[in-house]
Amino acid sequence: MTEITLLVVVGVFTALIIGYGIALRAVPMPSLGAARREMLAYVPRESCAITDIGSGWGDMAMDIARKRPDCRVLGIEYSPVPWTISRIRAKMAHLPNLTIRRGNFLKTVFDPGDVVLCFLDPRIMADVGQMLATRMKPGGIVISRAFAIPGWQAFAEIPMQGSSDRLYIYRITGAASDAPAR
Ligand SMILES: C[S@@+](CC[C@H](N)C(=O)[O-])C[C@H]1O[C@@H](n2cnc3c(N)ncnc32)[C@H](O)[C@@H]1O
Repeated sequence: MTEITLLVVVGVFTALIIGYGIALRAVPMPSLGAARREMLAYVPRESCAITDIGSGWGDMAMDIARKRPDCRVLGIEYSPVPWTISRIRAKMAHLPNLTIRRGNFLKTVFDPGDVVLCFLDPRIMADVGQMLATRMKPGGIVISRAFAIPGWQAFAEIPMQGSSDRLYIYRITGAASDAPAR
């Protein structure tokens, strides 16, 4: 590969990452190991289906799938570069309980399962709340790093040890679509 080709490839990848970051109003910044461990600690012990909405490069989704082989894990990511990389990583990791899907979680039809994890952006949390309220079943748990869901009442709000962020933990009550969580 010539230097020019390499420059063009890097330029296109960078433009895609920035462009989708602007369009989705969220950058693909991964949660690091300590933060992932903290979030995982609040996932219920029973077997369940877990979704990382906005799964980025796949770090969180792969970590959960590894540590919770009893659970089905879904990662949904729309930005094509992180999604492609996460698919390759997931394939190489041979995790039978992990699926990485490309899609805009605000528009794609999907089943979020029993537990949803997210680390997004305050500008989209109201939309995220609306989407989860129509799709999650009573008893479902939402664990949001750093950003609260407007109008929802967290049953726990926990300062993280490895960062200045908080975890907002919600439980869905009532029928789906008439959430919000309590
Ligand atoms: C801060 S990263 C978090 C990555 C991962 N959850 C973690 O904790 O390591 C947020 C990701 O959400 C993705 N995202 C934001 N809005 C989205 C949407 N509507 N549909 C799919 N992905 C979205 C972004 O592209 C970005 O990769």
